[in-house]
Amino acid sequence: MFILTFPFIFLSTIIKNSSTENILKTLPPSIQDEVNLTTPEIIAKYNYSSESHNVVTEDGYILTLHRILPKKPYKGSVLVMHGILASSADWIITGPQHGLGYLLSDEGYDVWLGNARGNRYSKNHTTLNPESKKFWDFSWHEIGLYDVPAMIDHILEVTKQEKIFHIAHSQGTTTFYVMCSLRPEYNSKIRAHFSLAPVAFVSHMFSPIFHAIAAADVIVENVAAFINLNEIMPEGGLVSTLGQEVCGLNTLTTILCSNTLFAICGFDCKQLNTTLLPLILAHVPAGCSTKQLLHYGQEINSGIKLYEMMIVRKNTLLGHFRQYDYGFWTNLKRYHSLKPPDYDLSQITTPLYFFYSKNDWISSAWDVGIFAKKLRSLKGKFLISYDSFNHMDYLFGIDARKYVYNKIISLMTRH
Ligand SMILES: *[C@@H]1O[C@H](CO)[C@@H](O)[C@H](O)[C@H]1NC(C)=O
Ligand SMILES: *[C@@H]1O[C@H](CO)[C@@H](O)[C@H](O)[C@H]1NC(C)=O
Ligand SMILES: *[C@@H]1O[C@H](CO)[C@@H](O)[C@H](O)[C@H]1NC(C)=O
Ligand SMILES: *[C@@H]1O[C@H](CO)[C@@H](O)[C@H](O)[C@H]1NC(C)=O
Repeated sequence: MFILTFPFIFLSTIIKNSSTENILKTLPPSIQDEVNLTTPEIIAKYNYSSESHNVVTEDGYILTLHRILPKKPYKGSVLVMHGILASSADWIITGPQHGLGYLLSDEGYDVWLGNARGNRYSKNHTTLNPESKKFWDFSWHEIGLYDVPAMIDHILEVTKQEKIFHIAHSQGTTTFYVMCSLRPEYNSKIRAHFSLAPVAFVSHMFSPIFHAIAAADVIVENVAAFINLNEIMPEGGLVSTLGQEVCGLNTLTTILCSNTLFAICGFDCKQLNTTLLPLILAHVPAGCSTKQLLHYGQEINSGIKLYEMMIVRKNTLLGHFRQYDYGFWTNLKRYHSLKPPDYDLSQITTPLYFFYSKNDWISSAWDVGIFAKKLRSLKGKFLISYDSFNHMDYLFGIDARKYVYNKIISLMTRH
């Protein structure tokens, strides 16, 4: 965890004595207030009608769905799901004309922005206290098994439809595959699914931060348990501590901040609108459990190691896409096998579309290629034509609309 938080600590020590006002000055005055607003408040500010819905999962988590009502004649509903450490804000921070949430709404779709358990909008439970260790005992496995189905059922019930669209980024795609493989009846509730930066097999993931977690797997798990660290970068993690103090002050800090974000996701900031950086860091990260990161770490370990990449041909070894590894005693009890079971990809039958890119350090083109071959309902696989497009650009990239969103909107009309 030290390695994970190191870049943020590093930043805070560089610039400690800067005041919040300075940072806010770098944001255009018209959007300064959005630093403190919630997703539905920002949506309402731009005169879109927004709603908040609570959904209770089978295992008692209380989630919040944010909805943008369509402006044009109604074309159906779409659930849009964020990635790790993120929230519904991902899809609207860049504003009307840029944010996928608004663009879908402009097209006539009824847009539902999901929030996974543990993020700032879904941190409540019918019986568990969010401060307790028990509350944080989940990975993306549980998000796919309980949260996504609960959100889909809620939307179907409210809108009286039989099927909806689903669009997801990063971990949002992982949880979709988990759901379809473990609860195959949900395949038929989806008109089509769009994966932005698909993440299932991760042996070629290049992100140094995820590799650090993987390399120190056991140590990280024990240290996290020892210091009782169940939750990573909670609500307003950066904004309340460092984000507002550090980012956006001047060119130097802007560069440092964007590189911190991109150390996780892939360098090259050509697509990042640096003006928006203080606002992005006010909303991302939005919190997740340690177990979510550890589960990805286990997946990396189930394939080849970083050092082996130098000597082994890149595409020769493949890791697993499987359930959480509890160590063999608990595995025996839970799964009746020493190793956790793989997710059964043959159960995925929803029409799928993949968007991936060469400069993505989390969703590598190699892994996407391997994964694609195992799916029978993949309808299209699109490599972003702009080579340095990275993992975050799907959300905040200046040209995300041009390279990704327009294509999704046109593909949706086929289903
Ligand atoms: C945001 O909230 C903080 C703390 O409540 C406050 O100091 C700051 O002035 C607010 N910023 C804006 C732009 O409203
Ligand atoms: C929203 O509507 C109000 C009232 O009609 C108007 O004053 C305001 O400028 C609009 N805001 C935006 C962002 O369009
Ligand atoms: C959490 O849920 C409980 C039970 O449903 C409710 O009484 C409480 O107000 C909620 N807390 C927050 C912070 O929303
Ligand atoms: C960057 O964001 C600001 C604030 O929303 C906006 O005015 C500007 O047009 C954006 N720049 C680009 C290149 O999209």
